Amino acid sequence: MGKKSRCKGCWGWCLVLIVLATIAFGIFISVKLKNRKSDSDVPGPPGSISKKYANALKIAMQFFDVQKSGKLVDNKIFWRGDSALKDGSEAKLDLSKGMYDAGDHMKFGFPLAYTATVLSWSILEYGDQMKAVNQLEQAQDSLKWITDYLINAHASENVLYIQVGSPKADHSCWDRPEDMTGPRPLTQVNTSTPGTEVAAETAAAMASASLVFKSIDSAYSSLLLNHATQLFTFADKHRKSYSISIPEVKTYYNSTGFGDELLWAASWLYHATGNQSYINYVTGENGEEFANWGSPTWFSWDNKLAGTQVLLSRVSFFGPKDVSNFDILQKYRKSAEAVMCGLLPESSTATSSRTDNGLIWVSEWNALQQPVASSFLAVLYSDYMLTSRTTKLSCNGDTFTPSDLRKFAISQADYILGNNPMKMSYLVGYGNKYPEFVHHRGASIPADATTGCKDGFKWLESDEPNPNVATGALVGGPFLNDTYLDLRNNSMQGEPSTYNTALIVGLLSGLVTTSSVVKSFT
Ligand SMILES: *[C@@H]1O[C@H](CO)[C@@H](O)[C@H](O)[C@H]1NC(C)=O
Ligand SMILES: *[C@@H]1O[C@H](CO)[C@@H](O)[C@H](O)[C@H]1NC(C)=O
Ligand SMILES: *[C@@H]1O[C@H](CO)[C@@H](O)[C@H](O)[C@H]1NC(C)=O
Ligand SMILES: *[C@@H]1O[C@H](CO)[C@@H](O)[C@H](O)[C@H]1NC(C)=O
Ligand SMILES: *[C@@H]1O[C@H](CO)[C@@H](O)[C@H](O)[C@H]1NC(C)=O
Repeated sequence: MGKKSRCKGCWGWCLVLIVLATIAFGIFISVKLKNRKSDSDVPGPPGSISKKYANALKIAMQFFDVQKSGKLVDNKIFWRGDSALKDGSEAKLDLSKGMYDAGDHMKFGFPLAYTATVLSWSILEYGDQMKAVNQLEQAQDSLKWITDYLINAHASENVLYIQVGSPKADHSCWDRPEDMTGPRPLTQVNTSTPGTEVAAETAAAMASASLVFKSIDSAYSSLLLNHATQLFTFADKHRKSYSISIPEVKTYYNSTGFGDELLWAASWLYHATGNQSYINYVTGENGEEFANWGSPTWFSWDNKLAGTQVLLSRVSFFGPKDVSNFDILQKYRKSAEAVMCGLLPESSTATSSRTDNGLIWVSEWNALQQPVASSFLAVLYSDYMLTSRTTKLSCNGDTFTPSDLRKFAISQADYILGNNPMKMSYLVGYGNKYPEFVHHRGASIPADATTGCKDGFKWLESDEPNPNVATGALVGGPFLNDTYLDLRNNSMQGEPSTYNTALIVGLLSGLVTTSSVVKSFT
């Protein structure tokens, strides 16, 4: 305990110095900018708000409301209503809240927990920016809508419900969530059928959310932290991939391993508790076994390594220098640097996974996931560097600056918002051209339609644009050749997902002001 509070004091003083240094640096930059010839792409002085990203952020944030399940409170989406009120009832649980995964009505616990973790992280880093554009409460409410669900889904110490609905039954209907009549079976993990990655990701979600709610509702925050520590123990003690325990999950959210989630959850628990045992966890044999230091990876719902590396870099940038195994912690930071070097287009280690127009492009399914996730990490890393006055990033001999990272992130965001060969925004509701045939059941069916499960397929097949705008949906995205087919049955490109929205919310919050000072999470 003594050690913990001493470190906290030191952290506080470091931050004061860092803040002062950053203000001085900010003044320096703003003077430099003033001396530059003005053009429309030159950002304003540090801290000034970008209208473009503020507007995009407000739109993106609305998709969480579109995706909400349960009894809605202050519903702002006119074509949405209460739905799935009985979810969980067969186990005498209330699993009515949470959010639908994508264009369908499944609640998939693995990506849903990831959504909550990313949203928490975004709020922790960029809550001030969200507040400056009136989006903080909306972000906190959306997060709580998910964590309320996760709390109930963690029914007892070693039981976690990880799915509501059956993909087969769900996908054999085309109806509005409000009109669902099909079965909503529950799937759990437990000690005989464990699911390490889903339990660990849920622990990460709850640990990070406990930090978000710490100053708002301390009882709720403690409750989340209790669940997080229990779930982490469950995940760690009963190590088995949920894809092996419950093979059916492979069709939609197959996990390629649980080591990354264990490290990610432990890193969040370190931030939430300050307990050094979690640092020992990630730097000890689990680090050796799972961290894959030095090899860049793509941050995604399946792979949390790049996120873990950036999150732990925070500790080596700003944390107490007497944290245990500081030298091993540096390996995470070096790995985060390798990720950043891969993203920078001018770096000699730049990834070749890009379209001709510069969009990071890794997979034809949900293509926008990797550019958005990587850009979010790049903005964070840029702000960590600026705040700590780390001016240079070295990539195989070439040096880059925090502003190079930010420029990269801006290039990806701008592509997504319309600076692309299709001259369209992939964020629904933003700009004057965006997908109109989004693969989204609720958006495709008029609110007053009387169709049900089967006759509702006429709305999937209809040639008319969606009657409802799924505002804030980030669709899957373009082909490698920068083209996009706006067809409702094109789920590969045209289906939005709730986790993509968490990522773009994080990215846009980071870009809303011209640079951000990183602060302590607590
Ligand atoms: C454990 O979970 C599996 C998979 O969801 C389930 O089939 C089994 O019934 C559960 N065990 C208990 C004791 O409930
Ligand atoms: C699921 O992931 C495992 C582990 O990476 C892999 O071997 C398997 O082929 C994947 N299955 C599917 C259906 O994607
Ligand atoms: C730190 O975490 C470990 C592992 O969960 C636990 O055994 C220990 O009691 C914790 N220490 C404190 C000071 O809370
Ligand atoms: C772009 O790629 C898609 C998918 O590979 C292909 O179907 C389409 O014809 C291509 N379009 C052009 C203009 O090359
Ligand atoms: C979608 O519909 C179009 C015409 O409406 C058809 O040509 C295409 O094959 C369909 N694609 C899929 C993936 O079903």
